[in-house]
Amino acid sequence: MKLHIKVFTSIFLSVSPVAFAEYPDKQITMVVPYAPAGSTDVMGRILAQTMSKNLGQPMVVDNTGGAGGTIGALRVVRAPADGYTILFHNMAQAASPALYSKLSYDPQTDFSAIGVVNDVPMVLVARKDFPANSLQGLIDYIKANPGKLNFANAGVGSTSNLCEVLMKSSLSADWTSISYKGTGPALNDLLAGQVDVICDQPASTLQHIKGGNLKALAVATKERISSLPQTPTFSQSGMPGFQLTVWHGLYAPKNTPKPVIDRLVASLNTALKDPLLVQRFTEMDAMIVPPSSATPAYLRNFLKGDVERWRIALKNVGIKPE
Ligand code: MLT
Repeated sequence: MKLHIKVFTSIFLSVSPVAFAEYPDKQITMVVPYAPAGSTDVMGRILAQTMSKNLGQPMVVDNTGGAGGTIGALRVVRAPADGYTILFHNMAQAASPALYSKLSYDPQTDFSAIGVVNDVPMVLVARKDFPANSLQGLIDYIKANPGKLNFANAGVGSTSNLCEVLMKSSLSADWTSISYKGTGPALNDLLAGQVDVICDQPASTLQHIKGGNLKALAVATKERISSLPQTPTFSQSGMPGFQLTVWHGLYAPKNTPKPVIDRLVASLNTALKDPLLVQRFTEMDAMIVPPSSATPAYLRNFLKGDVERWRIALKNVGIKPE
């Protein structure tokens, strides 16, 4: 670990202020800590494409999935703090300290925050030939068939897993959890009928729901969402008060120089006003945050609060760090 810090510092010191002024002068890598075709990947690619337009350099998505997003996050912690490797992560960033006892980084201190990006609803979907057509039907199926349901997720601490564990606790239910490196491969298995249900986001599920290949059972929002107006909320269909919204944030490695962070913050804010990005995010019910939230200070404070919220919430449902 000591050696690593030394290397990291020397890279940081070897970049001159002139180099920062010219930032970016080459391709930027955006690490998405989940497999391709999941919701984080879909939204990350839209954001990367839009930011690259105003940065004048390509921004390329690199999927580093596994362990609920922690492997990809660690990759960015270990990257040079020069703004050429950044992380697009979801709410799992806040939950992972409560779930991984050996987490080798601190989400709050090992990154330079850039800003919050959006808030996104969650939707519970089932394979198209699953016997139940509603959340209440699923609850009845679980009660009648203890342990039989296969519930997919993107690894411990991923948002699909957080939704699943909160559901499991609230229903006092028994089922089998099946983890993937992201909801992309999980959805492939759901489409193939290998697993029964997953809690994910419209970004990755909408096309399959609209195409009639997956069934939307319920949305975890207060009100119904515009992309799935026929789908009831959890509250309307057997789980009163159950709500879960995912947020996404953008990060660089700790000690990234301020001029570089300022440039990325400006780029993020320009991207969040881009008409094509606005249209595509809106189609998937991803609510773009106001400019006051797409800032380092807001992300730092919000993450701090959310780490604590997840610590309490997971403790309350009896989940201990592994
Ligand atoms: C993904 O992109 O695979 C999912 O958003 C991961 C998750 O469930 O948090």
